Amino acid sequence: MPTIVVASPKGGAGKSTTAVLLGTELARGGVDVTMLDCDPNRSLSLWAERADLPDRISVQSDVGESGIVRTIKAFDADGQVVIVDLEGVASRLVSRAISQADLVLTPMRATTLDATIGARALELIAEEEEALDREIPHAVVFTMTKAIQSKQHKGIEASLRGQGIDVIDPPLMERAAFSGIFAFGGDLHSMPPQGNMDSARANARAFAMEVYKRLTGEV
Ligand SMILES: Nc1ncnc2c1ncn2[C@@H]1O[C@H](COP(=O)(O)OP(=O)(O)OP(=O)(O)O)[C@@H](O)[C@H]1O
Ligand SMILES: [Mg+2]
Repeated sequence: MPTIVVASPKGGAGKSTTAVLLGTELARGGVDVTMLDCDPNRSLSLWAERADLPDRISVQSDVGESGIVRTIKAFDADGQVVIVDLEGVASRLVSRAISQADLVLTPMRATTLDATIGARALELIAEEEEALDREIPHAVVFTMTKAIQSKQHKGIEASLRGQGIDVIDPPLMERAAFSGIFAFGGDLHSMPPQGNMDSARANARAFAMEVYKRLTGEV
């Protein structure tokens, strides 16, 4: 089953949040999810330690450059989805993870600065595609978006789509529940309510559905 790599060299782009929301939503949908924490800052592991892990989720901590390919292969079993969370850098570890991906997600805040640095992730993917002589499906997800889209957001999204880049709709909006999930651990259904939980759950579910469609080839 598929390996999803969440990658952007931009720090704070929303990688770990995207990984946790995706993993917990897929698990709720009945998928077994293994999450690999490849970030020395251990965001995923800290999240995993805060509360009981939701059903169907396991987290492997401290996966480094020498173990990444082996670890992905070990968990890449039938009926499993592997989600890889990476540090906000461009490194050999990041490239190795991308080389194993069935789908790379690049979270991006809709600002010019973030889009400029985030574009480096797309270059890393292109480099791996060239080295491996295979296409690596990838998509951008806008994170921390506001209810009313800024002109900047519209411009960046139009530019990405104009380059033929897959942009996942819906984006992950800026929500108290999405930052709170790291404070409380667990998922959007187990944590104490933060803000409008129904909207947060619907947003995360719709996002995860769109990712799932890309894994099954429906997009
Ligand atoms: N959709 C969102 N709504 C509200 N807060 C968010 C959202 N996405 C991310 N955040 C907050 O923004 C900060 C950065 O997010 P996150 O840790 O997911 O980014 P990252 O790309 O993993 O960062 P790093 O590069 O340091 O690993 C965190 O405090 C997180 O709680
Ligand atoms: Mg992170």
